[in-house]
Amino acid sequence: MCGIVGYVGPRPSQDILLAGLARLEYRGYDSAGVAVIDGDGALGMRKKAGKLAMLRDSLKDAPLADGSTGIGHTRWATHGGPTDVNAHPHLADDDKLAVIHNGIIENFSALREELLADGVVFRSETDTEVAAALLGREYAGNGGDLQHAFRSVVNRLEGAFTLLAMHQDHPGLVVGARRNSPLVIGLGEGENFLGSDVAAFIEHTRRALAIGQDQIVSITPDAVTVTDFFGAPVQAEPFDVSWDAAAAEKGGWSSFMAKEVAEQPEAVANTIRGRIHDGQVVIPELDGLDELFIGINRVIITACGTASYAALVGKYAIEQWARVAVDVELAHEFRYRDPVIGADTLVVSISQSGETMDTLMAVKYARERGARTLSICNTQGATIPRESDAVVYTHAGPEVAVASTKAFSAQITALLLLGLHMGRVRGTVADASADVAELAALPEKVARVLESEQEHVTQLAGWMADTRSVLFLGRHVGYPIALEGALKLKEISYIHAEGFAAGELKHGPIALIEPGQPVFVLVPSPRHSALVHSKVVSNIQEIRARGARVIVIAEEGDAAVLPFADEVIHIPLAGAMFEPLLAVVPLQIFAMALATAKGLDVDQPRNLAKSVTVE
Ligand code: G6P
Repeated sequence: MCGIVGYVGPRPSQDILLAGLARLEYRGYDSAGVAVIDGDGALGMRKKAGKLAMLRDSLKDAPLADGSTGIGHTRWATHGGPTDVNAHPHLADDDKLAVIHNGIIENFSALREELLADGVVFRSETDTEVAAALLGREYAGNGGDLQHAFRSVVNRLEGAFTLLAMHQDHPGLVVGARRNSPLVIGLGEGENFLGSDVAAFIEHTRRALAIGQDQIVSITPDAVTVTDFFGAPVQAEPFDVSWDAAAAEKGGWSSFMAKEVAEQPEAVANTIRGRIHDGQVVIPELDGLDELFIGINRVIITACGTASYAALVGKYAIEQWARVAVDVELAHEFRYRDPVIGADTLVVSISQSGETMDTLMAVKYARERGARTLSICNTQGATIPRESDAVVYTHAGPEVAVASTKAFSAQITALLLLGLHMGRVRGTVADASADVAELAALPEKVARVLESEQEHVTQLAGWMADTRSVLFLGRHVGYPIALEGALKLKEISYIHAEGFAAGELKHGPIALIEPGQPVFVLVPSPRHSALVHSKVVSNIQEIRARGARVIVIAEEGDAAVLPFADEVIHIPLAGAMFEPLLAVVPLQIFAMALATAKGLDVDQPRNLAKSVTVE
């Protein structure tokens, strides 16, 4: 939610800022802007409502003088609609000072009143302009010490924010601060960068510095200084980004989503790599942390959106292998009641971005309550892992499309690994060899589904382009996949879709079935449970009898479903816990193909942000 980039160095900054914003466009795409201190020491600014292309066009039509200090922003509107005026940067101190912001300043109206009383005239409806005006007043009042003024301003702000500022009287300096919102430093040779995430500067450097909560950073071409909000120096942790710029490029693909769906075999393989030793799952990051898993009587997995559906698969896996009760809680519900948690609870959070505010707050809350915390995350240097006792990284590589696909598969993979790791540590898995063999076989099986079903499912979606509602049914681990299939469709094709537990059908949802209603049914293998399989086959008959158009996802060779299905999508044989990783693939392809058939932008669906950094 909102992408931020900053640059200081010897090069002209506009192209660097625009390229960084292009890589961050998945965070916000309702307006964009840049501010640059030009070679004559004057601050210039341009901002435009709409996608980044609008800003680019405007800069092409009427170029802005370039310079080597700059900041840029892509916005996902919170305060004030997506207009030119509300876009960032916001200016103050007679337009010599520029500020960009991600997050929500909760006490902005009190501050605005104070500034209005002081005679400040606001141009926009944003909370950001309030911060800019406050900074302008502080700066003017303290004789022109930008860092000092910045410190006093961030100490007055409440809520969540990443804030960057620069002043034309200080070329070669960008200051930034973060509280509950992301900010990473990119370390270059004679130049330095700031970004909401490493994608902002990955084409220039893979060396990064993670900064913690309530910290302030100043970058100049040759130095990076990190302090707390009171000016005390802080040691920031350097890290190397494990992927390169090409990984975040669309390559020859029609969309990032298409690329990321296709990258799933690799995402799963990379997440497993290095975590299987002698036929056992051993996660090196958890070495020496056995006490996280021993003596617990409950696991709570908390997440939002797609990650919460991965969590549901994790519940089945961890309960089966580690023999401990697991609950899944939506992060935004978790901390607003009085959950029963304590030292004997392990709270596992899942987040692709590692920045989702709801999830972050749930982790902080769990820690305050004395629970043990572990995060599953795809982004190095992100906030959620930093706030957790332990982290298991998914190695899906950068995910750019708003609708999560390869990160979801990697999350499920990490949860399967975690379940087997916990089972070993707790002594509840005697022999993991069969499951480990299943894990190892997954990447090839996912690749097979992609290859064999791509065309079939795309064709199916084409036929259904006018459909107004699609239902998804699943049982056991198929249930979370039904939910995920429905979410994917809602997110990118704007079609009403719902996922149900197949057993729940007769308790309500069956009333929705009318002739022609498309229903996807995830059929579990009869090899795992003949009983569960037969129940799902009965459910198919029930909806079929009421005229539903039934699209079945079943394992190769499952003949029992054939007489009742209008369409059958086959997946390879796999163990019960591993089927979700195969069954989800056709559903992702379906959503993507349907959205494409409707002429929609699958990467940047309306109203959605990939990284939701406000509550
Ligand atoms: C947003 C995105 C979803 C994502 C969810 C959780 O709602 O649009 O695609 O699943 O956030 O994101 P996270 O980064 O925490 O996994």
